[in-house]
Amino acid sequence: MERTFVLAKPDAVQRGLIGEIIKRLEQRGLKLVAAKFLQVSTDLAEQHYAIHKGKPFYEGLIRYICSAPVMAMVWEGPQAVTAVRQTMGATRPTEAAPGTIRHDFGLEVGRNLTHASDSPENAQAEISLWFKPEEMVDWKQSNETWIS
Ligand code: TYD
Repeated sequence: MERTFVLAKPDAVQRGLIGEIIKRLEQRGLKLVAAKFLQVSTDLAEQHYAIHKGKPFYEGLIRYICSAPVMAMVWEGPQAVTAVRQTMGATRPTEAAPGTIRHDFGLEVGRNLTHASDSPENAQAEISLWFKPEEMVDWKQSNETWIS
């Protein structure tokens, strides 16, 4: 089982799309293991997006992520990193496939609704940046024991 870090970004929260995003990940078969609703500090935003520091969109990206609350989540499942990236769609909503979150609800790269880790290594780093170990919920989904 793999875990990945997911954010419903400020535009998703402002537009009332948190439920839609959670619904799509649940329907995909992924299991929610941690979640919190928070206003992101500049410090946290800068740590999360450190890799983009210096790029032309960096300042706007930090302002966007700190502009309204976000829903931070950890989802678990087989190949969770790949699965969530598929369900979320390409970075630019106009290049995202129909049926993905970014395609179905977005148009602008700077308002693309979600973040999800792009590798298992980055998932681990992002999960530890955003969550304490004790915030992970250990629970069994009924379908995990449905058939052996
Ligand atoms: P990136 O890590 O490349 O994409 P993803 O979120 O799909 O992993 O970029 C991080 C965020 O930066 C992206 O979600 C939106 C923003 N961004 C821009 O605003 N303009 C750009 O040209 C790029 C590449 C990203």
